[in-house]
Amino acid sequence: MRPQKSISRLPPVLHLGCIAAFFFFVFFFFIQSSSFFSGSKKSDPNTEGDKRTLSQFQSAVQQCVANRGLGLTALITDHCKMTLKFPEGTNSTWYNAQFKIFEPLEYHYDICDTLMLWEQYRNMTTVLTREYLDTRPDGWFDYAAKRISQLGAEKCYNRSLCEENLNVILPARPPFHPRQFKTCAVVGNSGDLLKTKFGKEIDGHDAVIRDNEAPVTQKYAPHVGLKRDFRLVVRGAAANMVKILEGSDDEVLIIKSMAHRDFNALIKTIPNPVYLFQGIVLRRGAKGTGMKSIELALSMCEIVDIYGFTVDPGYTEWTRYFSTPRKGHNPLQGRAYYQLLECLGVIRIHSPMRAQRKQDWSNVPSREMVSRAHAAAMRLKLGEEIAGLGQFGKCKVWGSADAANNGPISGSPDMSDVRKYSNYSKWETMPFQSLRREARDHYAQMEDVSLYKMDGNKLDDLVCVRHKSASSV
Ligand SMILES: *[C@@H]1O[C@H](CO)[C@@H](O)[C@H](O)[C@H]1NC(C)=O
Ligand SMILES: *[C@@H]1O[C@H](CO)[C@@H](O)[C@H](O)[C@H]1NC(C)=O
Ligand SMILES: *[C@@H]1O[C@H](CO)[C@@H](O)[C@H](O)[C@H]1NC(C)=O
Ligand SMILES: *[C@@H]1O[C@H](CO)[C@@H](O)[C@H](O)[C@H]1NC(C)=O
Repeated sequence: MRPQKSISRLPPVLHLGCIAAFFFFVFFFFIQSSSFFSGSKKSDPNTEGDKRTLSQFQSAVQQCVANRGLGLTALITDHCKMTLKFPEGTNSTWYNAQFKIFEPLEYHYDICDTLMLWEQYRNMTTVLTREYLDTRPDGWFDYAAKRISQLGAEKCYNRSLCEENLNVILPARPPFHPRQFKTCAVVGNSGDLLKTKFGKEIDGHDAVIRDNEAPVTQKYAPHVGLKRDFRLVVRGAAANMVKILEGSDDEVLIIKSMAHRDFNALIKTIPNPVYLFQGIVLRRGAKGTGMKSIELALSMCEIVDIYGFTVDPGYTEWTRYFSTPRKGHNPLQGRAYYQLLECLGVIRIHSPMRAQRKQDWSNVPSREMVSRAHAAAMRLKLGEEIAGLGQFGKCKVWGSADAANNGPISGSPDMSDVRKYSNYSKWETMPFQSLRREARDHYAQMEDVSLYKMDGNKLDDLVCVRHKSASSV
């Protein structure tokens, strides 16, 4: 079994590099094939228009980085490529022992790819469900086996054994919906939280997403708030879930890594719903919990505010608000990437150095501008044909599920009474009619289809499941 390394909370360059490489390939392929089919390589006016749209967007992003980046600057290379630079003389204190280098002061991005990656999350489901496993080719045999530790086999040769392992954390259909919440706070664990009193502000959000073993207590309340809604945990933290919950049944736990026999026994004793995250990168190490929390938030929330991420200049050591400092990873890389995400309209950053201007977002590109840029990037990178399919353009595999007859939303038949008769009913059983108007409108737009990442597949393909007896009628 592979050891689980999941402490890093920052985006791995490798992952982004691979995504970039893939898009480069796709881009190339489409350039090649379209000129092959049309027999001409002349730039058409639509392409020029899209490039213009993207260039204008780039300028807005550049301005945003200048205004909000606390010293970062953005250099535009072409209509998609951009470099974020830290000022000359920035201390690069994090040393990569493997490559024997300090962190660089320059980071290269493809804005078009980044936009496509993150805008997609707004329409996605990020909780693993039964309908996903049923629809994905070899979903049970191959994929499910990868999400169960201690299975003792590479594949689910015995499906009922695999079902037994997953039942308790496998809802039939998505328990949460895109746009379900207007505002969400994603709270990281940075020691920076102790320099501010964001507690009330955090609690003012429609949903709060926390991370691993972060304590929610009166002691820290002024800094991190008390509201508990979601908590994303890695394997080590999942083993401690009863302790982490401290008797609170308000929090939904979402395990980032794997189901585990011992966890399942624990899960059956607590009233809280527990799920598995859908969208982990199976082959390449861990993607930070921080990034995953943002993905989870975007799949349910319109506005995502982040707190407690180490994003201010002057990083010296990695601290957590509730424990002693320890070795951290790639602070400069993380800071640059989060700043980029803010200027692409994905997140809003809150930190000690930004505490004074927290409610002013006028210099971040508007939703309309982001949407236009996103559409242009889709056409340029994927071609008219796929872009023309709209929200279903990336659906590689289709399935259908009967919404009327698909079992409980969570839990398994053999659960203890505590879990079975729990009164937890905050959202996952929320009837369609009580959802926000924006969520209902989106449902209609999506024709009652749920989108999932293929997951483990290097392509950006989606698994799409249509619900037969729509709850939306
Ligand atoms: C960089 O680090 C050195 C030594 O730790 C310190 O003296 C200097 O002020 C730092 N420079 C900046 C720009 O933070
Ligand atoms: C498959 O697993 C189930 C549940 O653990 C067990 O009862 C059954 O005997 C297994 N079947 C085979 C063929 O091993
Ligand atoms: C997401 O869904 C909306 C409809 O609510 C649609 O207009 C938009 O194009 C979709 N975005 C993506 C990336 O599929
Ligand atoms: C759930 O709520 C009902 C009615 O409000 C109550 O009688 C019952 O004791 C509650 N169950 C638990 C486990 O709290």
